[in-house]
Amino acid sequence: MRYGFSVVRLGLAAVAASTILISAALADDYPEGCVDCHVQTQGAAVDFRLNSLLRQIGHPRVDRLKTIPTACNRCHADEGGGEDDGTPKFSQLIHIVHFDVPRTNTYVQQFGGKCQHCHAIDVDAGEAVVKSGERNW
Ligand code: HEC
Ligand code: HEC
Ligand code: HEC
Repeated sequence: MRYGFSVVRLGLAAVAASTILISAALADDYPEGCVDCHVQTQGAAVDFRLNSLLRQIGHPRVDRLKTIPTACNRCHADEGGGEDDGTPKFSQLIHIVHFDVPRTNTYVQQFGGKCQHCHAIDVDAGEAVVKSGERNW
């Protein structure tokens, strides 16, 4: 019994070690998407958090939303419309502000235009999803 127990423990330790190696190799800098990139860098003059950026362009307040970007759908439905009728499709708005070339195009230049910073694959369903996280303000 004693012997069996320690073999099981060794087995678990080996699995844990290889899991750490794999996750280190595939580290995701933005596991929660929007809120992991749109941050207020300590000491920086620019507040890059979404509530602050949106306030600067005169957008309705988003301070009370909890999960980002899920809660944005209160007004921005993915089909367009939403509670405030007539708003464009949310995916289009978000893709445009990150990829539109006539703008500064910072997302493409600084972040390689990577889809995976916002999207992940749900391996069980085999579907692409949008990452989300709690607000950081
Ligand atoms: C890896 C970094 C990164 C991630 C992740 C990211 N963004 Fe951005 N976002 C940027 C950059 C860089 C810009 C500035 C683009 C430009 O000006 O060219 C930007 C711009 C924006 C703007 C425009 C603000 C303005 O001043 O017009 C909004 C809104 C925005 N992002 C929302 C989101 C949302 C919502 C998500 C998640 C679905 C998200 N972002 C994920 C980097 C990121
Ligand atoms: C209370 C309702 C409401 C909520 C919540 C909301 N929005 Fe909006 N948003 C609007 C309205 C209204 C517009 C203007 C639509 C238009 O110009 O036709 C807009 C426009 C935008 C635009 C386009 C700005 C531009 O002109 O470049 C972006 C990007 C955007 N919203 C991002 C977001 C994000 C990200 C969230 C969640 C953090 C969010 N919105 C939550 C109402 C809302
Ligand atoms: C800055 C964040 C961000 C980046 C980068 C991004 N997406 Fe998206 N994408 C979104 C959001 C937000 C939605 C809307 C999700 C929702 O409303 O449920 C979306 C929706 C989609 C959809 C669903 C269909 C549609 O258009 O409505 C597809 C397909 C898609 N994205 C493909 C891509 C591809 C391909 C790339 C890379 C070239 C990419 N996205 C990069 C944020 C992003």
